[in-house]
Amino acid sequence: MAGAMLAFSGAKVWAKDADARIEVLLDEPLGEISPNIYGQFTEHIGGVIYDGVWVGEGSKIPNDHGIRSQLVAMMKQIHVPVIRWPGGCFADSYDWKDGIGEPSKRPRRTNFWEVDRDAVRLHEKGLQIFESNAFGTNEFVRFCRLTEAQPYLAANLRSLSALDFDRWVEYCNSPAGSTTLAELRANAGYPEPFNVRYWGVGNESWGCGGNFTPEQYASEFRRYTDWIPSYGIDLQLIGSGPNGNDIDWTHRFFEQIYSGHTYNNPSFTGWSVHHYASNLSRGKTTDWIAAKGDALQFDSVDWYELLRECNRIEQIIQDQWSVMGQYDTHHRVKLVVDEYGPWYREGTELDPTHIFGQQVTVRDALATALTLDTFNRNPEKVRMATCAQLINNLNALFLAHEEHFIATPNFHVFAMYAAHQGGHALRTEFSAPDVQYTRDDKPARFWGLNGSASRKGEIVTLTIVNPGLSRTMETQIALRGSTIARVSGTVLASSDMHAHNSFDQPNAVMPATLPVALGGGLINVSIPPASVARLDVFLG
Ligand code: AHR
Repeated sequence: MAGAMLAFSGAKVWAKDADARIEVLLDEPLGEISPNIYGQFTEHIGGVIYDGVWVGEGSKIPNDHGIRSQLVAMMKQIHVPVIRWPGGCFADSYDWKDGIGEPSKRPRRTNFWEVDRDAVRLHEKGLQIFESNAFGTNEFVRFCRLTEAQPYLAANLRSLSALDFDRWVEYCNSPAGSTTLAELRANAGYPEPFNVRYWGVGNESWGCGGNFTPEQYASEFRRYTDWIPSYGIDLQLIGSGPNGNDIDWTHRFFEQIYSGHTYNNPSFTGWSVHHYASNLSRGKTTDWIAAKGDALQFDSVDWYELLRECNRIEQIIQDQWSVMGQYDTHHRVKLVVDEYGPWYREGTELDPTHIFGQQVTVRDALATALTLDTFNRNPEKVRMATCAQLINNLNALFLAHEEHFIATPNFHVFAMYAAHQGGHALRTEFSAPDVQYTRDDKPARFWGLNGSASRKGEIVTLTIVNPGLSRTMETQIALRGSTIARVSGTVLASSDMHAHNSFDQPNAVMPATLPVALGGGLINVSIPPASVARLDVFLG
């Protein structure tokens, strides 16, 4: 940028020929970014638990009491704070009592996902369809302890009673030696309570979780959640929120809970939201199957359409928050986005047993990054989020089959963004020309650069997504409110929009160093097309 013309804005001098500008406003904190928005979701579906997390104690694959060691090691690298389990839809047909006690005596049941049309091909495949219950509450809690994550359990509201919910809490949380269930837990090697704080009250209760109306669900929610034993634990109860941005579901539920007969349970602090980017039909159909795109076969328009679909999370957060605030005027209840990510048609799963398994390209890495940036920008609204799902499923961080194991580009995004956990979000202005493209012969646009910033002590983490497929963004960055001592950069990018990691090429998409320069108190950086970047800015 030598010889560039100069323009003035505030105290610093902008180069006129920069493509984009970013201003991080150190004096405008937005709130603390809850580490829990970097959570993961694991369901008993396809290859997530069996083949993914659980390889079994006798396996030749390195494991810790049956849990895949390589997975644990890599989850620790990204500081996974919380893991949701056992579903998803599976949760509302799961009896937790089947998954405790001596493993060889546990009953074998039909897995919920037997109903899925993908499962038709799997009937002879055992675990994915006929649940062995080898992995139950004890094994899940062990998994959490190994990865140093908090457990987030989803309770069955469709097909178990409220008493069963109480008893699951009792099994997990009653003090050593206090109850018969505490003794059962001790017999399995866990005398001390699990102290599970986070409890989901049903899952997608408008659909697979009971097909309730909001009023019916509100009534069930009251029954299931009032007077749960607490054992001195600050329980956090999460209600089953809308399908996407279904405002009606949230209005009617909150009206029932907050109007008329009072419901005053301070443990109700979370409202779940699910947002899948699944309709890539460009408005041509709403058919669940026909609308889906492909994980690997796509063109540049599909690239932008997928990012646009994921980007809807911003509006969902604003709209849901606004509706909730009409009833919960002090905003005690925060948003918990416990399922999100792209959802493609079947066909790219690495093994036929991996129902909903799909490949993960650099496009998905950008989708995940822009979603995490959105959470970072809304720290007072979003308190928890879990990516759907951790391994061998929709927006996976890992793919594994038997002894083969790889990290996807999504893992690298979580690694790059981990520095935001617990940081103080800062208002940040992005100014860049929109990407322009043609969709079905009509002009279309998408933002040219976006991201988020947070501060921890004297380090500012700035993450940036450049969605444009061809334009390197010559970018200048100013930090308002401090001077910069030094800066370093990392980037995840590929010149091939279909790039992904595979068992044969596990490192096809990897982060690299991003050159950055300091000049005139500003940061100058070339942000490559189709990339996710992170800058570590040291103040001083
Ligand atoms: O993540 C897969 C499924 O998607 C979950 O089980 C369900 O909650 C959602 O519909």
